[in-house]
Amino acid sequence: MKSLKHCIAAALLAGTSSMAQAADLEVTHWWTSGGEAAAVKVLADNFNKTGHNWKDSAIAGGGNARPVIISRISGGDPMGATQLNSGRDAEELVQAGFMTDLTELAEKEGWKDIVRPSKLLDSCTYEGKIFCVPVNIHSFQWMWLNRSVFTDNGMEVPKSWDEMTAMQDKLKEKNIIPLALGGEPWQISGLAGVLTVALGGVELHTKINVEKSVEAAESEIMTRVFEALGNARSMVDPGNVGRAWNTATNMVITGKAASQIMGDWAQGEFAVAGQVAGKDYDCLPGLGINPVLDTGGDSFFFPKPKGDNAEEIVKAQLAMASMLMSKQVQVDFNLKKGSLPIRGDIDMSAANDCMQKGIKILEKPENILPSSEQVWSPDTQGQFEDLWVEFFSSPEMKVADAQARFVNIIKTAD
Ligand code: BGC
Repeated sequence: MKSLKHCIAAALLAGTSSMAQAADLEVTHWWTSGGEAAAVKVLADNFNKTGHNWKDSAIAGGGNARPVIISRISGGDPMGATQLNSGRDAEELVQAGFMTDLTELAEKEGWKDIVRPSKLLDSCTYEGKIFCVPVNIHSFQWMWLNRSVFTDNGMEVPKSWDEMTAMQDKLKEKNIIPLALGGEPWQISGLAGVLTVALGGVELHTKINVEKSVEAAESEIMTRVFEALGNARSMVDPGNVGRAWNTATNMVITGKAASQIMGDWAQGEFAVAGQVAGKDYDCLPGLGINPVLDTGGDSFFFPKPKGDNAEEIVKAQLAMASMLMSKQVQVDFNLKKGSLPIRGDIDMSAANDCMQKGIKILEKPENILPSSEQVWSPDTQGQFEDLWVEFFSSPEMKVADAQARFVNIIKTAD
């Protein structure tokens, strides 16, 4: 027979656990590709281990997801947690007081001393308080190459954008698409941004993106960026319109295309396909010309909950924030995602050759660039995106006219 003491202890325990109720937390994100889904699973499994329940609410495509997420929060229909890009995506929502304050947890866990580079936490900070958790570092400035497409056809695997463009005719003769591209606007503006860094280096990137220099926007080197993007039209297939980025990555994986310029999240797709960096595929940071990287990536925000169970939701939000920052989750999640961790005190020796290249580049502060989400307001970003898409899809548009529009955007950019 159980003792009275035992019964009381059990009753007390039951009381505590029902007080700390498990909450269902709806989590929105745009991680729907194979590699991304594998990375999401790491987060969901670890969150569920805290006793709460991850209710997945994925919306395909960053361009579609971002406005839906933002309008749900500002329209009074908040999710429990959401991914957005690190930077200015949620700036107005934070300023308007829509987000749960994570400062107490951040101080308790010493996030300020953990997060590297510390600028990532700056993007989460407003009036000295912390409103988001950066989870990874992603960079756009990469070209991915299928090695056997070249070696099987008697070609050397290119080591730079120039070598790659010089091989396009040979590739086309073999029915191989030189450059896999998708049609979502952010993919085309991303390509333009990568060409800007590759051709103009840190100097041009800084003058344009940080100093908003009209002179740099008008410069000859910027003309060359427009020309390079114009020339890239002949390297892509007509099917690119509307294509998702991971479908384009898959074209490289299967050898239908030779290369893709895409952020390092593409590595998640190579990993899911069982391909090995340096053996099956190669990567050229900065297109093999200027190997520098931006420190964009993703952060999680936790909109203030409404309704009767708001207190439980906040507890679940804090449990998730803490889990995202933990060492093991940082390792496991980022290895699947193809991104780099946001803390420097963890063992990333399991990272593949391309990730190791990225880690080495980011060791030097002069190699680190801010991402477009970090420097531009969503409105300015939209204006650039429209211009790049229009230019890329209109071969009749003159470089001089496109560049003049670019200069005008820079003049009023914020
Ligand atoms: C995000 C990545 C994501 C990629 C493609 C980027 O905006 O930062 O995490 O993998 O979009 O979906």
